[in-house]
Amino acid sequence: GSSLRRLIWALAIMGACIGFSLHLAELAQRYLSYPVSTEFSNEGADFQFPTVTICPTDNFVDFCQPVPLFIPMNYFRCLQDMVLDNNRVYKLLGSENWNASLRVFPYNYYHHGRLSLRAVAYRGNLFQQPYETVLYCRYNSQPCSFENFTTYKDEEGLMCISFTPTNRTIVNAGPGNGLYLVLHHVTENYLTDEEQIDYVPGFQVALHES
Ligand SMILES: *[C@@H]1O[C@H](CO)[C@@H](O)[C@H](O)[C@H]1NC(C)=O
Ligand SMILES: *[C@@H]1O[C@H](CO)[C@@H](O)[C@H](O)[C@H]1NC(C)=O
Ligand SMILES: *[C@@H]1O[C@H](CO)[C@@H](O)[C@H](O)[C@H]1NC(C)=O
Repeated sequence: GSSLRRLIWALAIMGACIGFSLHLAELAQRYLSYPVSTEFSNEGADFQFPTVTICPTDNFVDFCQPVPLFIPMNYFRCLQDMVLDNNRVYKLLGSENWNASLRVFPYNYYHHGRLSLRAVAYRGNLFQQPYETVLYCRYNSQPCSFENFTTYKDEEGLMCISFTPTNRTIVNAGPGNGLYLVLHHVTENYLTDEEQIDYVPGFQVALHES
């Protein structure tokens, strides 16, 4: 009777504790493994400098934009207003000048907060722009700038920037040569604590041929 019930309870609690510990260990492991740095060296004479694409690992860095509203005090609205402001966001997304290859009905995204904000960010052009991201650029010992970057939208809908050098022949390899960048990334984001384990604010860099 009651001792069997107690045994079942004890097993259940023990199971929960084990599950919790395993989960925690897994999260800690993932957390501890996040800083990944890649070293790249070149010895070959016919080396062609790759195209460098840089994507943020989180998003929504410009939060506020001016909107024409009837109430004079609300000239600026921000992404974080969205949850309080579904009607307005819905109306904005339905208006004709928002340019995005995403579904028209924003409510489709509301089960997925990150995606819905991303949709809004695209339509509102609220991503950090190259001139905000690229603070310093030097390529082949020559200055370059945000103007040497093109923007592109990756599969996840993030805004990435790509550096495509006009001349791919590098004079000097080694630290400080090749492509040297100082980037700025506003790290404020809209992720839950758990999501932040997977999406550490920062950049991902991909090198590719064209
Ligand atoms: C949306 O963007 C594409 C590509 O930049 C452009 O060709 C198209 O005219 C834009 N549409 C609107 C409605 O602005
Ligand atoms: C960067 O852009 C400027 C202006 O368009 C151009 O003159 C220069 O060659 C570009 N630099 C690289 C490395 O592509
Ligand atoms: C590219 O840069 C290299 C090294 O500065 C130079 O020797 C070469 O002539 C350049 N090529 C073109 C097409 O400008």
